[in-house]
Amino acid sequence: MTKIKPSLGVCYYPEHWPQEKWAEDAARMVECGIEYVRIAEFAWSRFEPARDQFSFEWLDAAIEILANAGLKIVMCTPTATPPKWLVEEMPDMVAVDENGVERKWGSRRHYDFSHLEYRREAIRITEILARRYGERPGIVAWQIDNEYGCHDTTLSYSRAAADGFRDWLAQKYQSPDALNRAWGNVFWSMEVSDFSQVELPNLTVTEPNPSHVLDFRRYASQQVVAFNAAQCDILRKRAPGRDLIHNFMGHFLEFDHFDVSVDLDVASWDSYPLGNLERFGRSDEWKNWYLRAGDPDFQAFHHDLYRGCGARRMWVMEQQPGPVNWAPWNPAPHPGMVRLWSHEAFAHGAEVVSYFRWRQAPFAQEQFHAALNRPDGSPDQAYFEASSVKRELADLPSAETQRSGVALIFDYPSQWASEIQPQGQDFDGFAHVMTWYRGLRLLGQNIDILPSNADLSGYALVVVPHLFMPDLDFVQAVKESGARAVFGARCGSRTTSHQIPDGLAPGLLQELLAIRVQRAESLRPGVEIPVVDGGSFSRWAEQVEADASVTVNLETVDGQPAYATRDAYSYVSGWPDEILLSRILKSELKAAGLEWIETGEDLRIRDRGGLRTIVNYAPKPLDASHLIGPSDTVLIGEAMLDVAGLAIVQRG
Ligand code: GAL
Repeated sequence: MTKIKPSLGVCYYPEHWPQEKWAEDAARMVECGIEYVRIAEFAWSRFEPARDQFSFEWLDAAIEILANAGLKIVMCTPTATPPKWLVEEMPDMVAVDENGVERKWGSRRHYDFSHLEYRREAIRITEILARRYGERPGIVAWQIDNEYGCHDTTLSYSRAAADGFRDWLAQKYQSPDALNRAWGNVFWSMEVSDFSQVELPNLTVTEPNPSHVLDFRRYASQQVVAFNAAQCDILRKRAPGRDLIHNFMGHFLEFDHFDVSVDLDVASWDSYPLGNLERFGRSDEWKNWYLRAGDPDFQAFHHDLYRGCGARRMWVMEQQPGPVNWAPWNPAPHPGMVRLWSHEAFAHGAEVVSYFRWRQAPFAQEQFHAALNRPDGSPDQAYFEASSVKRELADLPSAETQRSGVALIFDYPSQWASEIQPQGQDFDGFAHVMTWYRGLRLLGQNIDILPSNADLSGYALVVVPHLFMPDLDFVQAVKESGARAVFGARCGSRTTSHQIPDGLAPGLLQELLAIRVQRAESLRPGVEIPVVDGGSFSRWAEQVEADASVTVNLETVDGQPAYATRDAYSYVSGWPDEILLSRILKSELKAAGLEWIETGEDLRIRDRGGLRTIVNYAPKPLDASHLIGPSDTVLIGEAMLDVAGLAIVQRG
């Protein structure tokens, strides 16, 4: 796979600062060890203050100054922030929320992905920028738009969305009858006799039909794909040889990132470990323990996920440098944590880690957001940590990201399906996947996260925690890969139209697993179903009937199969706790011929080529000697890891 030379970058807004500062800023970036600088993603009102009146002189000057300092520029298209004059020209371009309320201009991302005239405007401005800057020396990459979907903007319930959705359905189903059958519209008299009768699935009296919602989610996701592709097409022609990138987010599931990435060279993401912990962390106790470090698996998961997208190249486009401004609470990282997050990203294959942002803004919405420098220009903590990372990288040998032993399948439509019909208040598909991912990481595994249509050959073990709606190609790919495969509860429980499959769950997976789910139940917090000899299910449990060819490896205390295997394929019929999952995974790893090592709750490892990176997420020092082999050479750090400590070792 790819051999990378890890580099650092920064996000910079020349339009926020007087021109006299730019040269000094550029020189100090270089001094700090920065190689890449991202600019202009929100600058539309500055270079086109009124329709067709352009003012590019300032941007030309900024590009020249940055490039002359030796920096590599990531230029952006500005389509996340359409200016006021444009919204005035086409007031219906704004998105509409679930309650039918228009999202107003005055911050950002106030556009509707379905609005075709706005899409034409996005194409127009991209074409203008691409003609001017496509081949400009110094510009090495383009970021398209900024954080698709941020602030809940993927789904819009606008007129444009209704029109677009009806056309999309007409193409997909060809006849209203076919749609009625696929959705089961006979239930509650929801049948339509014309596509124009289909409504958007909001504001219904009680829940809308899940098949209807699922198709709307698919439609909305494809609008993001099309919006992105339209800009990529232009840049491919006019910016030859430049990498095309988008910056995705953490725990963002509203569109299919694998599909969007097909048109990109690099899938990057914006990593805010503490903001995300505050937003998505499990419990207060958990958040307190990891307050200044972040969840030990959250960053790694997204590095692995986005490394599995598109061309399999990944950057961190925005790295949290200190307290942010947008979570319910915004604590500061441990000293050293920015350094740790940076090295961890490189260990997972990031080519560039770029900090958000160069200097803290003294005005507007993000005044409380830390940066590498304070608003007065004095260096903040992260500036020094970025410099250390740069020095340390210079001393490390280059290493290749190799194929992992374990592939984990992540499927966006399955996530939507479990959001649409969770059947238990706390059944969160993403959390279910994270449970499995964490289980593998606690056993020291390197993991590749892949879409369900990926080539699985070469993997020893394929882990499929949450694939509701497998298709025949997937079943075939698993068989042909020769890998073992282990499936989590609810896999195969719906058809692609969101109906219960003929012959019951796990539907098409019965061919591999030879079991049938007879009944499923969801369980309130605190209720556990113990498994004989250790561990339990909570939240979700199933009663499963197995063919004679199936071996039941573990049973619940009530005698229900908990973990059953036929040939190389296994099924787990509930949401396992850490103890049970560890038992299951060890048995799968053993059968797959893979080794494991228990990292401990707060230490994690990741191997890239011959280098092993070991990180400490605990708020106390930890001994990591068990993760260093007798013939390994410690290149950075030591076995006793301080708070925010890391070690990088060359494996012997
Ligand atoms: C990201 C966004 C940036 C900035 C940052 C603050 O979501 O792309 O523009 O707002 O968050 O953490």
